Amino acid sequence: MEPRELIARAEQAMLGAYAPYSGFYVGAALLTKSGRVYTGCNIENAAYSPSNCAERTAFFKAVSEGERSFSAIAVVGGEKGKIRSFCPPCGVCRQVMLEFCGPDFLIYLWDGETIRAVPLTEMVPYAFTAEEHLNNKE
Ligand code: THU
Repeated sequence: MEPRELIARAEQAMLGAYAPYSGFYVGAALLTKSGRVYTGCNIENAAYSPSNCAERTAFFKAVSEGERSFSAIAVVGGEKGKIRSFCPPCGVCRQVMLEFCGPDFLIYLWDGETIRAVPLTEMVPYAFTAEEHLNNKE
């Protein structure tokens, strides 16, 4: 799938955002290695901390459906859904990506004019990965 198409799916997903507290709408479209797309939006909460980012919504939907192999994610966001700048994933979402994705996983960002493709290794240098965790067990 072309990056532009995945970004269009993320833009569509952003319309579902529930963000009455921040007013910042985010959409994500996650592409599996088999070619399926799982979308997500941010879902906020009056108590703030139970809020979920668009990327994690997409990942948790996919993983809960049995998906384990991913090739890319497109992320878009902006004030009330107006895309004016890149919306890079937060640290928590990056850590979730590390759990399921290899170094070749690509994050597509879109500011309304330009696509930026960032490999996961570049997005999270010096990461704590599942391998390190499992290797340190007795
Ligand atoms: N947010 C996302 O959904 N993804 C990101 O990559 C950055 C931030 C959400 C969380 C919150 O609902 C709103 O954007 C403002 O931080």
